[in-house]
Amino acid sequence: MGVFASVNGNVVPGDRARVSVLDNGFTFGDAVYETLRTYAGRPFHLDRHLERLRASAARLGFEAPFGDDVFGRRLDEVLARAGNDESYIRIILTRGEGDISYRFERVKGPTLVMVVKPFEPPPERDYVDGIAVVIASIRRNHPRALDPAIKSNNLLNNILAVREGQARGAAETILLNDAGEVAEGASSNVFVVKGGEAATPPLAAGILAGITRRVVLDLCREVGVPAREETLRVADLLAADEVFITSTTKEAAPVCTVDGRPVGAGKPGPVHARILQAYREYAGRHAR
Ligand code: PDD
Repeated sequence: MGVFASVNGNVVPGDRARVSVLDNGFTFGDAVYETLRTYAGRPFHLDRHLERLRASAARLGFEAPFGDDVFGRRLDEVLARAGNDESYIRIILTRGEGDISYRFERVKGPTLVMVVKPFEPPPERDYVDGIAVVIASIRRNHPRALDPAIKSNNLLNNILAVREGQARGAAETILLNDAGEVAEGASSNVFVVKGGEAATPPLAAGILAGITRRVVLDLCREVGVPAREETLRVADLLAADEVFITSTTKEAAPVCTVDGRPVGAGKPGPVHARILQAYREYAGRHAR
């Protein structure tokens, strides 16, 4: 059990895994990534994560080197070597090794790294009591500057927001877009529930197309909760009956306060409970 990595197909213990200091991922943050987790030891929605990884790389003008079957095989190898009950998986694809210049024709790549480590679920009390979130003063990257739809290793916008949120005691930090609308969490998407109906900002708000978000939107229909994509403002979070955030690692985590003000009854609500249960059942059934 532990941390293991596959570096261009070579599986090694995490503390022995190495990438060149000349790698563009290191020198420029010129890389894309995906975070997955396993259910029953198997990666959840590897297909959708690889599709998004390829789309992110394509936006930056490089490509994943092989088909999903090779990704799957390499991931299986490193998961088997690690032998964790459940794993957190980070797939990182960089443009490759360069010479610390913008001479992209010199870059030899790409570099493909897969790191797996034991999955640490969020604390159970997050789901019992709900989590505190705050609205960051820093805005989400403007899509015309660095589109948040690209899941890139350039996480400085997120880091600035998270550091601000942590200093204010928050478990997640919500970013607004340039127009002041709710965009997304620093590492999650946002949903509100009002009058039994769910809403989440549209992709046009300038957000990552979260895989959990998509699954939750689809599950809402199955469990009879009308769900739509809609522009949201901070006032909508504060006026909501329920707010929850979605991500691979947090599934659907209920929010009890926004900027210190209680959401609805200030504790997890019934619609969230139905969605979380449906999500966990779905994840259990659909791990790869
Ligand atoms: N974060 N928005 C942002 C900015 C994210 O970084 C993430 C994921 C999400 C949710 O996406 P998904 O449902 O596909 O996990 C939304 C992952 C967990 C991470 O950064 O490690």
